[in-house]
Amino acid sequence: MRVIGLMSGTSCDAIDAAAADLEIEGDEVVLTPLGDLECAFPGGLRRELLAALPPSSTTMAAVCRLDTLLGQALAVAADRADRELCFEAAELVVSHGQTVYHWTEDGRVRGTLQLGRPAWIAERTGRTVVSDLRPRDVAAGGQGAPLVSALDVMWLRGRPGTPVALNLGGIANITVAHGARGPLAYDTGPANVLLDTAVRELTGGRADHDTDGALAAAGAVCRPLLDGLLAEPYYARPAPKTTGRELFNAAYLRTVLAGFGHLPAEDVLATLTELTARTVADAVRAAGGTEVIASGGGTRNPALLARLARALDGIPVRVSDGLGLPSGAKEAYAFALLGFLTALGLPGTVPACTGARHARVLGSITPGLGGPLPRPWDGPAPVRLRVARTGPSHDPQIRITDAH
Ligand SMILES: Nc1ncnc2c1ncn2[C@@H]1O[C@H](COP(=O)(O)OP(=O)(O)OP(=O)(O)O)[C@@H](O)[C@H]1O
Ligand SMILES: [Mg+2]
Repeated sequence: MRVIGLMSGTSCDAIDAAAADLEIEGDEVVLTPLGDLECAFPGGLRRELLAALPPSSTTMAAVCRLDTLLGQALAVAADRADRELCFEAAELVVSHGQTVYHWTEDGRVRGTLQLGRPAWIAERTGRTVVSDLRPRDVAAGGQGAPLVSALDVMWLRGRPGTPVALNLGGIANITVAHGARGPLAYDTGPANVLLDTAVRELTGGRADHDTDGALAAAGAVCRPLLDGLLAEPYYARPAPKTTGRELFNAAYLRTVLAGFGHLPAEDVLATLTELTARTVADAVRAAGGTEVIASGGGTRNPALLARLARALDGIPVRVSDGLGLPSGAKEAYAFALLGFLTALGLPGTVPACTGARHARVLGSITPGLGGPLPRPWDGPAPVRLRVARTGPSHDPQIRITDAH
């Protein structure tokens, strides 16, 4: 089945689209990547979205507007992916939507809301759409995240040692695929969300991220600020746990930076970058991780990778590209896989990872203009994922460069 996955994460940087051919062979899902693309949010949509997210309050009118405009933007991305990556032969679109609120209380997730009405995608592309994948896991007692854990567990099955998949998106999350303490998955804490917020605040909105980690690389870690950041109770909470902009937002940053007004932007960025590296490395060590397979926009930040490599102290880090999944599009491929499983009536969660009571078939289905969904899969559920190589393989290990 030719499937398009659409993802826009916590960073609200762009919509990622990935296309894949997915088939079941024996106990494996075989995923052949067809390519990926990134679609910018149109006009002022990104600004409008950021202005409505926590810690801001908003109105139902703004929510309706965002739901519609995001749905239309996702439809444009799906249409482009169908034409450019699938040559108009996509059979299914899987849309994560944009998380606007992840409601957690006392470590439990009580609700999660993604916007981007799928009707716009079905109407524009004519394809059946699977959307709203998180709420079913929440209703089954889970965190609704990290849903990528289902891909990670299937993909890394059989890999020696204790492999840990790491996604450096707005939030950093890990999946311990197997091993004495696995499978297990959770958000370790902030990655790009605090870095981006700090850059926006410190540059008066002139820049929206620390391009190539240049600011962080030019700064030094401020130990008292780092200690203050590490005192955040979230890090000590037991897994499964998830977090987002509801906690790590501009108001949070202003509070922790109070009293550090004298610090140059470079030192603030170096300290926040070290915070991500430290919290990820602590989580990897606690899980007995023997290697880290990294993905997400944070892998494009050499200062973050250098600090991470240092904090991991010999545990090797490689980017997911080396194992066949492009680091910038891995989450979009993960949603393609989850929607494919839904279309076949197969569960898309690992209860040990999300904390749910049972594995569940995820999502809601919006019919397209074509025929019905395929018949439910009546064989045994696949337990592995094989990524078919589409080009020459390479396995770049991250080079450790100097970090202060
Ligand atoms: N060249 C770069 N240098 C530094 N940071 C970068 C660079 N390119 C991307 N990034 C960071 O990556 C972020 C986007 O990453 P990504 O798309 O993986 O996160 P996301 O959309 O929050 O996804 P999710 O939360 O689902 O993992 C940007 O906001 C930016 O902070
Ligand atoms: Mg993104």
